[in-house]
Amino acid sequence: MMQRYRIAVIPGDGIGQEVVPAGVEVLQAAGERLAAYALDLVWFDWGCDYYLRHGRMMPADGLEILRDFDAIYFGACGFPTVPDHISLGGLRLAICQGFDQYVCLRPARLLAGVASPLAGKRPGDIDIVVVRENTEGLYAGAGGRTHRGLPIEVATQIQVFTRVGVERIIRYAFDLARRRPRRHVTSATKANACPYTLGLWDELFAQVAGAYPDVTTDVQLVDSLAARCVNKPESLDVIVADNLFGDILSDITGALVGSLGLAPSANIDPERRYPSMFEPVHGSAPDIAGRGIANPIAAIWSGAMMLEFLGQEPAAGAILRAIEETLREGAVRTPDLGGQATTRQMAAAVLAHLPI
Ligand code: IPM
Ligand code: MG
Repeated sequence: MMQRYRIAVIPGDGIGQEVVPAGVEVLQAAGERLAAYALDLVWFDWGCDYYLRHGRMMPADGLEILRDFDAIYFGACGFPTVPDHISLGGLRLAICQGFDQYVCLRPARLLAGVASPLAGKRPGDIDIVVVRENTEGLYAGAGGRTHRGLPIEVATQIQVFTRVGVERIIRYAFDLARRRPRRHVTSATKANACPYTLGLWDELFAQVAGAYPDVTTDVQLVDSLAARCVNKPESLDVIVADNLFGDILSDITGALVGSLGLAPSANIDPERRYPSMFEPVHGSAPDIAGRGIANPIAAIWSGAMMLEFLGQEPAAGAILRAIEETLREGAVRTPDLGGQATTRQMAAAVLAHLPI
């Protein structure tokens, strides 16, 4: 019997509205052509427009509504009409934290047909996955402002590291590295400047590493690791990082592989207590929103990660190969890749490369 999945689709803001429908089309086509699965989609109009009508980014019982879905397919959130901390906190962070999606997975692979900003890099030279802690650190929401507006005003943003939170993300990185050819994990630290939080991180990294003798490791201060991403990306395989460092490093690795329009991500609850959420890294891109020229590949690739997470590896693989073929041929390219194709044309090209 054909497997069915209930997917909550939240295109959100800006180009999310354009790339998500393109992604959905490819995900559905792959299921049909492989006769592997069908998607029961429920679309939600949550986001900044919803906020302007209702005063919230999603309904008060939004998490309850999402809880029983198999996965969430997300576009982007944030638009100049609503302050960023409201749009993000009210939707994306609320879902990531509310569903304890503690792994943010951000692969960056240089594909044939795409130029890296680094000279002389060839396909395969860069193949990095950033494993970003996704629920705590500086994003935990701890802190505040006191004496607001007075000369003695104080602002604090407290970095929260829990033993459970740190250990589980590091373990995830090691388990992932085990399934990759190079089996290497690099830990991003800054224990020289932050000896409490990153000190705990370093201790737990060493402890967990001890349980994975088949995985090689190194530990590097995040600033020099940022430079290494640029100078020697070939030396990197899996990077494990706290929330903020992972945020920054994943923009660097995303840029290295040619375009943020290609960068996918997954916000995962590995224990599967709650639905996981799959979204392109690029965000809502207000500057090009509404023009139909956004690259849908990051959204399509994120959808492939969703299928893989749901156990549909053959379809995920077929979609990835179709993306690779499309980029290798280079006949259809959106402006971020130096071409003039539209979102729809790019998605159609990927569709055309799926097995019949
Ligand atoms: C990301 C983004 C977000 C983050 C912003 C928009 C809050 O940069 O998903 O990487 O920092 O998590
Ligand atoms: Mg970011």
